[in-house]
Amino acid sequence: MLSYPLLDLRVSTPLLELRAATDELLDQLAPVVHAGKMNADPSPYDDPISFHEDDPDLRVAKWLRSMWRARGNVDADRWRLNFVVVVNGEPVGMQDVIGVSFATFGTVTSFSWLSADHRGRGLGKEMRQAILHLAFEGLGAKEASSDAFVDNLGSNAISRALGYEPDGFDWATRRGEPARLNRWRLSRKTWEERRRTDIDLHNVDACQALLPLS
Ligand SMILES: CC(C)(COP(=O)(O)OP(=O)(O)OC[C@H]1O[C@@H](n2cnc3c(N)ncnc32)[C@H](O)[C@@H]1OP(=O)(O)O)[C@@H](O)C(=O)NCCC(=O)NCCS
Repeated sequence: MLSYPLLDLRVSTPLLELRAATDELLDQLAPVVHAGKMNADPSPYDDPISFHEDDPDLRVAKWLRSMWRARGNVDADRWRLNFVVVVNGEPVGMQDVIGVSFATFGTVTSFSWLSADHRGRGLGKEMRQAILHLAFEGLGAKEASSDAFVDNLGSNAISRALGYEPDGFDWATRRGEPARLNRWRLSRKTWEERRRTDIDLHNVDACQALLPLS
């Protein structure tokens, strides 16, 4: 067991595992970021983000720093758990959950990406379901939200398929250009009606002890 138990968190499904993003796993995933395989066209990412850095070495460095910042910044109004998505032993992407004034509102949002080599096979939907299971079952969330640029067909399709309801629009910039976002919300009630029975949580007690959940 690690001396920082949040790095022992795992969520397993029949298709994949979300493993807390240890330095070892990030190191294994770094070549994907270096090769630019986390990108898509049009960019799904709003500013600022390390993924918009064109120099590959600097991109990896900025990406790692953002992971370390997320580990270090655990506040009542915002905390973030980063997970590496592992399929058959291979790190293929990331799935994060972010608590937004969680102790007050019980709300989470999420962020994810998959290596371009692994898209379009149902993994994106599966990893969103895995993180929702952690949020609702493991952490007691009341509501989950998600934002995606209107032209991000994959992310919007996943939110729609999992029962999120449209919650209006927003604006953000990507690479400096304004672009419109769809906002989505999933209630605990809707999640409960569709919850899966084949997703397992491991070492979640660490969250109760180390996150400002209540
Ligand atoms: C978004 C992302 C994680 C989705 O993962 P994925 O494994 O490709 O998605 P899935 O195979 O699980 O597909 C889920 C649904 O989206 C649809 N979909 C996925 N990609 C699509 C695309 N490019 N165009 C149209 N529909 C798409 C699938 O048909 C499926 O719909 P269904 O449930 O109605 O059958 C992945 O495409 C990705 O990493 N994109 C770049 C990063 C990104 O956009 N992150 C999200 C930022 S908000």
